[in-house]
Amino acid sequence: MQRKTRSQRCSVMTMAVSRRQFLKLAGAALSPASLAACGGVDKSRADGVPWAAFGPDSTAEEVTKGLDLTGKLAVVTGCTSGIGFETMRVLAKRGAYVVGTSRSLERAEAAGLRVRGLTTPVELELSDLDSVVRCAEAIRSLNTPIDMLICNAGYRGGGNSRELVNGVERHFAVNHLGHFVFVNRLLERLFLAQQGRIVMVSSRAAYRDVGENGIDLDDLGMKRAYSDALAYAQSKLANALFSLRLSELLRGTRITSNALHPGLINTEIDRNLNAIMRFGFGLLTAVRGKTTEQGAATSCYVATHPQLGATSGQFFEDCNAVTIAESHLHNQVLAEELMRVSEELTAPYLVEQERPDWSEFENGVRGHLWSCPAARIRQPVFTGRSTDSVATTSKRSHSTTVSDIASNSSVQPGLRHTPA
Ligand SMILES: NC(=O)c1ccc[n+]([C@@H]2O[C@H](COP(=O)([O-])OP(=O)(O)OC[C@H]3O[C@@H](n4cnc5c(N)ncnc54)[C@H](OP(=O)(O)O)[C@@H]3O)[C@@H](O)[C@H]2O)c1
Repeated sequence: MQRKTRSQRCSVMTMAVSRRQFLKLAGAALSPASLAACGGVDKSRADGVPWAAFGPDSTAEEVTKGLDLTGKLAVVTGCTSGIGFETMRVLAKRGAYVVGTSRSLERAEAAGLRVRGLTTPVELELSDLDSVVRCAEAIRSLNTPIDMLICNAGYRGGGNSRELVNGVERHFAVNHLGHFVFVNRLLERLFLAQQGRIVMVSSRAAYRDVGENGIDLDDLGMKRAYSDALAYAQSKLANALFSLRLSELLRGTRITSNALHPGLINTEIDRNLNAIMRFGFGLLTAVRGKTTEQGAATSCYVATHPQLGATSGQFFEDCNAVTIAESHLHNQVLAEELMRVSEELTAPYLVEQERPDWSEFENGVRGHLWSCPAARIRQPVFTGRSTDSVATTSKRSHSTTVSDIASNSSVQPGLRHTPA
């Protein structure tokens, strides 16, 4: 018999109290070390991480106030709606140059045109690893360091009909494996940044809605037990564990990796749910949710805040790093296993990564960083469209094509392209 999920066990009493009221009461009543407890979720402040003066009500604009991101490059997957759009908007507003992805180039371009600042649209279908490689190569062709890589795009199915992508359940394929390859292909560009940040937009489903063992790595097709909620939750736990594993691999480098739960926000994430479920989600987010502006705050905070330059391997909620007892969020063994299985599944699309030969790595930490036995291909072999056709020319001056920028960019490592 399947174990009841934590969210199912969550007390009905707390539903009657608005999330904000609850947190305010909790904030007044509890010590900073103990943030919240809800039906078996024992959440506490993570040790050793600077405390943010921001919380659930903070907006992305507020957490980035006063920051000048001019000259920095951010990549945001899933920039066309919800949290991703707001993340792109605010980062661009603060001066960052943002490459935003969508499955539809037209939609990505339209999103960029709604934003004040510099953006470039690129096509990315995460369920298609050839598309992932094409997108990463288009971004690599900018020849510029990546300061922020925000893996935000997400798929949430509906109707409990199991779908497979190359034998793997669709949520896992889209939300995890697609981003797994994407990060692998772009890692080298993050090394060139002064301080590269990988941000994985996970979900509280990663600890509330998974089964006892976290992710059933022996059954990634989910033949044994399937529900769309469970599939989504497993894929979101995979996001968090991938981030955790990356933080270990990247220890001693200038790149950090963190995961987060953005909050409950009434976005288009419910597009595949049936009408009743959508109504329920709308109700839940109306009572306990955040606005989109608040929903993008944790992503923007983790991606930009100067006090997090050395913070890695953490899980953030409401702009602060938390530890969830009895969850798999911090399970290093499962993270390693996930990494091994993910490498096996995506091997032909991966490239080996080495730590750069910098003087700061002279004391023995240089060497293979991401060495996948099956990933022997240094240069990608794929028969996709050329980089030039990946991004379109915008009619507005603030949205530039990948090829425009590539032709203007410096190819010298360490120097970043500063858009005119
Ligand atoms: N909203 C919430 O309450 C909530 C809670 C916890 C976690 N999250 C997470 O937050 C992230 C953002 O979600 P959101 O709420 O802003 O949802 P959203 O409005 O549906 O945005 C999702 C984005 O992902 C892109 N996307 C969807 N499927 C894709 C695919 N197969 N390949 C590439 N891109 C794809 C979409 O772009 P196109 O359709 O243009 O391709 C869209 O821009 C997701 O990772 C989600 O799991 C959301």
